[in-house]
Amino acid sequence: MGLLHISHTLWMLSFIGLCALHCCSAAIEEHQTPIARLFVNASDTSPCPIPDTLFGIFFEEINHAGAGGLWAELVSNRGFEAGGQNIPSNIYPWSVIGDESMLIVATDRSSCFDRNKIALQMNVLCNNGGPNACPAEGVGIYNPGFWGMNIVEGKMYKLVLYVRSLGPIDVLVSLTDSQGVQKLATANIMTSGVKWTKVEILLKAKGSNYNSRLQLTTRRKGVVWFDQVSLTPLDTYKGHGFRNDLFQMIKDLKPGFLRFPGGCFVEGDWLMNAFRWKETVGPWEERPGHFGDVWKYWTDDGFGHYEFLQLAEDLGTVPIWVFNNGISHNDEVNTSVILPFVQEILDGLEFARGHPKSRWGSLRAAMGHPAPFNLKYVAIGNEDCEKFNYRGNYLKFYDAIRQAYPDIKMISNCDASRAPLDHPADLYDYHIYSDAKTMFEKSNYFDKAPRNGPKAFVSEYAVTTADDAGTGTLLAAIAEAGFAIGLEKNSDLVNMASYAPLYVHVNDRRWNPDAIVFNASHAYGTPSYWMQHFFKDSNGATLLSTSLQTDLTDRLVASAIMWQNPVNMNTYLRIKVQQLPQNRV
Ligand SMILES: *[C@@H]1O[C@H](CO)[C@@H](O)[C@H](O)[C@H]1NC(C)=O
Ligand SMILES: *[C@@H]1O[C@H](CO)[C@@H](O)[C@H](O)[C@H]1NC(C)=O
Ligand SMILES: *[C@@H]1O[C@H](CO)[C@@H](O)[C@H](O)[C@H]1NC(C)=O
Repeated sequence: MGLLHISHTLWMLSFIGLCALHCCSAAIEEHQTPIARLFVNASDTSPCPIPDTLFGIFFEEINHAGAGGLWAELVSNRGFEAGGQNIPSNIYPWSVIGDESMLIVATDRSSCFDRNKIALQMNVLCNNGGPNACPAEGVGIYNPGFWGMNIVEGKMYKLVLYVRSLGPIDVLVSLTDSQGVQKLATANIMTSGVKWTKVEILLKAKGSNYNSRLQLTTRRKGVVWFDQVSLTPLDTYKGHGFRNDLFQMIKDLKPGFLRFPGGCFVEGDWLMNAFRWKETVGPWEERPGHFGDVWKYWTDDGFGHYEFLQLAEDLGTVPIWVFNNGISHNDEVNTSVILPFVQEILDGLEFARGHPKSRWGSLRAAMGHPAPFNLKYVAIGNEDCEKFNYRGNYLKFYDAIRQAYPDIKMISNCDASRAPLDHPADLYDYHIYSDAKTMFEKSNYFDKAPRNGPKAFVSEYAVTTADDAGTGTLLAAIAEAGFAIGLEKNSDLVNMASYAPLYVHVNDRRWNPDAIVFNASHAYGTPSYWMQHFFKDSNGATLLSTSLQTDLTDRLVASAIMWQNPVNMNTYLRIKVQQLPQNRV
């Protein structure tokens, strides 16, 4: 429908029965009594451009969303570091092939990398033939990835590892099925040297298996050390390391922003386990990794600060960096000693935006991105408003950032939807997790919020009660759509909103429900994912004036937008009407 055809028009749509989610063409049957009439005044558009940022996405490292998910690294715990820097370290999910009469596997602190000293030592006792012969398939270690590696015939995989030994070594690298029987790709490492050597091998898969593993085996007696064993498919989005199918699913949502990397992941249960950006940049081999103690898993932090900024750029969207403000779930840094933490964040901003010759900007440039990233928003903490040091710490961060980067918009954790804030902010954070009925009824929540303060950022919303939401239901999606229609109508105030969480690996359901469910090889969207598709053209559209005449005021919401398709430049009208069902759908 072209713009010319619909200007200066008033529509009246009457609804007799109501359909879920995409009800744009309800029948008009004059002889029945309609339960609702929707008036859309297309002339009255002047005050209501919808922000380009309204509907975006929130990526948190939860449920293995990144490690084992969007981040395409196939090896889990590639540095044998999952137990931290102490020995013996936790090498899970690496396992040993062979018994203790044939080899002894241990961890020590002999790595060539200063920030991650743990290496794996393999003392091979059996030999190639003779009385103490190794089994024909050799002995060694294997890594099943994140509940199986998806190896696809014809695709190329890059293996990188660091190795040293006391004598000549002959190690077979193989990609196999989950039992180590079917060989999908193999290569030999023949070297010797007491010094650490980097080995890089391209493997081409000659078969496919969703549930593969990586093996390092040998039949030669001797001592060999491994560290930083990485396997990545060459085929990732633009070669940037993002798993293609999972990337495409979020790209399809046309997100208006990307909030990252948490969530509670940013806070940590304890500060020592919070996300610290400096430990996630530079060469991947040198990153220490960390244990995310809120969602209870180790990340090698290959998906770090740089990669998040790159992800936002690849999605064509605006990054929103949520940083730790010196507060975790259980401990806090007092305001009197917060300054080093403030400096850490200023450095992180310089990394993102600084001149390529600046201290931290030069590291970004060295990593492959001399041009600054388009970082214009930061959130000072996550859900910390009620914490003892929040206001004190907040102001230290706020003042320093305002001075160094006057254009950066700052987001407070404190809710200003009913009472004004006692501190300056550009936006305030609002989170809602509820049952379906409450979510739907909150569609008019922001009608009553003050317009003279900071803008609102609904950075986490979802129906979460088990009865209504399960692991993803149509009822939850309908209630969320009703709520989101309310956000659209209040988008003079609500400038950003994102559903949470985005991803879940089927083998690590820390949180239900989620938008995108995946395993190593497959992915699908829950109804709450598809709900977001109904709003993907709202960013930058024009909100039309609507009025709904109905007795079902608490069960029916509607909005109308005019949006332009950037491909054919046509202008379209989209009317969304949402009714909360009486029963679970
Ligand atoms: C539609 O909006 C225009 C512009 O605000 C206004 O002049 C007109 O009266 C409205 N029409 C109706 C039927 O409300
Ligand atoms: C991943 O999910 C698909 C589809 O349900 C299934 O066929 C496949 O076996 C799963 N992969 C693993 C490793 O379990
Ligand atoms: C932080 O402040 C609290 C309360 O004033 C105090 O008990 C604690 O000792 C302080 N901690 C540090 C590290 O300064």
